[in-house]
Amino acid sequence: MKKFLLGLVGVLALAAAGVAAWYWGYLPKQQPPQEWVVEATPELIERGRYLTINVLQCVDCHSERDWTLYGGPPVEPIGAGRACFDRNSPPQGVNVGESAFPGVMCIRNITQDPETGIGDWTNGEIVRAVREGVDRDGNGLFPIMPYFIYRHLADDDMRAVLAYLRSMPVVESVRPRKQIDFPMSSLVQLWPEPVTQEIVAPDPSDTVAYGEYLSRVARCEFCHTPRNPRSFDYDPARHMAGGMPFFLHGRTLWAMNLTPHETGLGSWTKEMFLARFKLHGTPTPVAPEANTLMNWNAFAGMTDEDVLALWDYFQSVPPVPYRREPI
Ligand code: HEC
Ligand code: HEC
Repeated sequence: MKKFLLGLVGVLALAAAGVAAWYWGYLPKQQPPQEWVVEATPELIERGRYLTINVLQCVDCHSERDWTLYGGPPVEPIGAGRACFDRNSPPQGVNVGESAFPGVMCIRNITQDPETGIGDWTNGEIVRAVREGVDRDGNGLFPIMPYFIYRHLADDDMRAVLAYLRSMPVVESVRPRKQIDFPMSSLVQLWPEPVTQEIVAPDPSDTVAYGEYLSRVARCEFCHTPRNPRSFDYDPARHMAGGMPFFLHGRTLWAMNLTPHETGLGSWTKEMFLARFKLHGTPTPVAPEANTLMNWNAFAGMTDEDVLALWDYFQSVPPVPYRREPI
């Protein structure tokens, strides 16, 4: 019996070592960077500028922000990265409860500087980071970078973003690599997933389908749908129903209900919705403690067609009453 038990322990130890080897050797799940040929016409660069700035909000994250203006517009030089946050930083943005950030993280320089930015990355390496969450060295990116959302970004839109990124002014700006504490440092390796299929956006004339695409890649769905606190999956019964807490400068903000329920967009008209988006095209001064996390500076530049496609899509989702989710 003793021998048997010893044997069993041995087998289990071997199995555990095997799992560990597999874990360290093969994670994150990844494919080699793919070939992405981009013909950077002025139209494609302009489309990429629109997506990067007004829809996907890359520069809202990858730049310093001016919180004295409503919506906190990004500060020049855009794309050059942001000051680091660490274990002592106050919570900001998506609900992270009371927990401190597990390490040190700097939002990186995504301009074309070859040393401090991504100037010498190949197109394939950039796409793999943006849509699949794997950095140049094959490590998982921290999922504050919303690659799990951008994995739905259509190939044509991805190409436009590449064309624009390549055209941005080069800025030398050192943003050190992250240092993430264990076990989070290992957990982040579990998330990345290759994108192996062609991704095509719905035809914009199908406004409901196109609005759904925009709602996903512009992260409306992410900030306006409550998630299961354990699995972090969207709660399908409360899709677009808002009510989640966000933190900004010591204040709690609650995302609006965007379903057609009367406690949500049901009490708005299409005209009000469009006007709300255009209101802060030129950001106005505001006390930092009265500011908002809604990236109005980005969204105010969205085309009327895109804003109205969002409206059509939100009108098509099931109405759900608003309720505040727990902090
Ligand atoms: C919500 C904030 C946020 C948004 C929006 C965002 N990023 Fe990021 N991004 C990050 C963070 C944080 C990192 C660093 C992650 C890490 O180091 O693990 C990062 C990393 C990257 C990297 C890897 C850089 C490197 O040196 O390793 C690239 C490339 C990148 N982002 C491009 C983009 C592009 C393009 C967009 C828009 C399509 C975008 N990001 C939108 C937060 C964001
Ligand atoms: C980073 C998270 C985030 C993203 C991304 C986001 N929202 Fe919001 N949104 C919020 C929060 C938080 C509020 C509440 C703001 C406040 O109280 O100032 C809000 C408020 C709103 C409001 C109400 C504005 C008002 O006048 O009361 C509308 C409409 C809205 N969001 C629509 C959208 C749409 C459409 C998108 C996608 C294009 C989107 N949001 C993306 C977090 C977000």
